Amino acid sequence: HTPTQPQKKYVLVTGGAGYIGSHTVAELIENGYECIVVDNLDNSSYESVSRLQILTKHKITFYHTDLCDKEELRKIFVNHNIDSVIHFAGLKAVGESTQIPLKYYRNNILGTLALLELMQEYHVEKLVFSSSATVYGDATRFPDMIPIPEECPLGPTNPYGNTKYTIEKILNDLYESEKKNWKFAILRYFNPIGAHPSGLIGEDPLGIPNNLLPYMAQVAVGRREKLNVFGNDYDSRDGTPIRDYIHVVDLAKGHIAALKYLDNTKSEGLCREWNLGSGTGSTVLEVYRAFCDACGDDIPYEITGRRAGDVLNLTAKPDRATNELHWKTELNVADACKDLWKWTTENPFGYQLKGVVDKFAA
Ligand code: NAD
Ligand code: WQD
Repeated sequence: HTPTQPQKKYVLVTGGAGYIGSHTVAELIENGYECIVVDNLDNSSYESVSRLQILTKHKITFYHTDLCDKEELRKIFVNHNIDSVIHFAGLKAVGESTQIPLKYYRNNILGTLALLELMQEYHVEKLVFSSSATVYGDATRFPDMIPIPEECPLGPTNPYGNTKYTIEKILNDLYESEKKNWKFAILRYFNPIGAHPSGLIGEDPLGIPNNLLPYMAQVAVGRREKLNVFGNDYDSRDGTPIRDYIHVVDLAKGHIAALKYLDNTKSEGLCREWNLGSGTGSTVLEVYRAFCDACGDDIPYEITGRRAGDVLNLTAKPDRATNELHWKTELNVADACKDLWKWTTENPFGYQLKGVVDKFAA
């Protein structure tokens, strides 16, 4: 007679092949969690999961599945003993969301609904959700709310932000309907940057990067000509907008803190929001300088006009996360630039093998 092994408990990570998801999987495994990744690879590649297995020396079960395909997604709930879900999967480009809003609503909202319906059916009660500082919209409307606390009135200003806002509402409504069954952690990320210090995983945007750091990195390795700084006529110390940049490894650790909170809390159910930011704002030119220092080169830049939709200042008040999740950032912008530079020089074409192939062909 052999004693039955206790059944392993899994964290299902949706969008786990992506930028923040992959760094969180690394942190989860380091903290002793077993992970299952589901991703449709719409904005990522399986290479990140392969690299994660090398980094963690762990097998990662991967499903190449679209969340909107509920019957395919169901198989994961049938096949595994899922204890909790971290839900990263979604489309995230603000500009694109204004061009093709229906695709954003379909993907982000329907994917989340399918996931929640299956969680309800299979009695999986804990969810950590990737929300965004974008739900605050232009917080400059409330000058006494900078740095931004979670109580700041919400007001997203683009379809992408509307999907995050709507999903927050769905979670709140579901929680209100059957409180004791649900534990929801809504994490509002500020500006995630950097890469894993190993240089094995990092951010690999498809096409022209929308975000500041990936764009600068591509300029530094010669993939783009120069950085366009979108306006220097803002009311800040150097005229460029202020953001709360957070190292992706710190951000990943915030998810572990949230999961532990859901596990350890005494309350029967909960639905609560936490800002994940550093509490310190940096201007575009300050980040530019930090990145130039990290790569040892003054990369070319030009001041251009403002980008539509940009706001002056999005800086987090992270006290709630510090007090309740016992989490705070440990790394700064300089650390993130250093790790981004390692990732970029070691993977100038991201996860595509093109760079490697070119090197051998030369
Ligand atoms: P990412 O694009 O690298 O990761 C998202 C992953 O989800 C991708 O791998 C993509 O292929 C997958 N995906 C998308 N739709 C899917 C679907 N229907 N089914 C299965 N997989 C799907 O983005 P990221 O930067 O890692 O962001 C992760 C989450 O955090 C997103 O929800 C994003 O909106 C949110 N967020 C990101 C930022 C940021 O600046 N990166 C800031 C705030 C919030
Ligand atoms: C940062 C600063 C730009 C690129 C976005 C989303 C937000 C969240 C995080 C998902 C701004 C300036 C940028 C460039 C520049 N994502 N910039 N030249 O806009 O703060 O936030 O990502 O939830 O919702 O809106 O980030 O990196 O695009 O811009 O001058 O080529 O860099 O004007 O001041 P943003 P970003």
